[in-house]
Amino acid sequence: ADRYVVIGNPIAHSMSPFIHSNFAAQLGLPLQYERVLAPLDGFAQTVAALQAAGVKGANVTVPFKLDAFALASASPNSLTPAAEFAQAANTLKFNANGTVLADNTDGGGLCRDLNRQLNTLGLHLEQCQVLMIGAGGAASGCVAAFQQAGVQHLTVLNRTVDKARQLAQRAEAIDLPAAGGGLDTPPSHFDLPGTPVVIVNASSSSLKGDVPALHPDWYERAVLVYDMMYAAEPTAFIRSLSKLDLPCSDGLGMLVFQAQLAFEVWTGQSPNALETLTKVRQALL
Ligand code: ATR
Repeated sequence: ADRYVVIGNPIAHSMSPFIHSNFAAQLGLPLQYERVLAPLDGFAQTVAALQAAGVKGANVTVPFKLDAFALASASPNSLTPAAEFAQAANTLKFNANGTVLADNTDGGGLCRDLNRQLNTLGLHLEQCQVLMIGAGGAASGCVAAFQQAGVQHLTVLNRTVDKARQLAQRAEAIDLPAAGGGLDTPPSHFDLPGTPVVIVNASSSSLKGDVPALHPDWYERAVLVYDMMYAAEPTAFIRSLSKLDLPCSDGLGMLVFQAQLAFEVWTGQSPNALETLTKVRQALL
């Protein structure tokens, strides 16, 4: 069986083995997928050992996504545009000739889940603008995918305003119209009138049970609110919106769709992500 791994620290709670085993079972592929705990200062050595053992590919999670990017960028033609933009990689493909391809499927996974949910509203990302809360690693991992998905306009709002402006400038440099500001910036300042707003929380505020102090007018323009975080219980951000009559989603679908994209990179085959998402949701509860 071809071997694949997920590398992180910590790694014990990763659901990736569950997801990829389910994908492989669907398609009848003999695939072995394991968790690998890498030492914090030992990512490159861990990867070298896995390559030497014949492992075909790896998912990479916290805190190694920047290391994965750095490792691959040492060789030419080894980065997808999404990994290049984010300067971070969550998917590595180990080629037979020893080279490594690095991709970042987080943003693509997010866009697949957003389009799936927008579809039920008769919409598509191409018709929408995105308001993204946060300007850290999780946020920058999604910008290239928004551009690829044909998003009309991106507004980045962040607690630290400079970081929002810088990320918006980098978005504009890849031809995604964008603007950045503070969390209290009202939509009237930026948005395209009449263009549906998709709100994406890419801040890590939910980790601390916090809710980002977004200007309330944004919720009036929104057709869908998406929190990239997920847990067995609704996240703090989603709980804070329960009084609004707005479709809300946590980020579990993003997790499964980023895995679907990685699986496609490795095997060239595409499993049914929705079937797996139902099972992952059950396992999370
Ligand atoms: P990640 O890789 O999860 O994106 P990160 O790169 O440290 O982690 O970025 C965290 C993001 O969440 C930042 O945009 C951060 O805002 P600052 O740039 O101002 O630090 C945002 N964030 C974290 N806690 C927050 C909170 N309580 N309210 C609003 N934004 C928060």
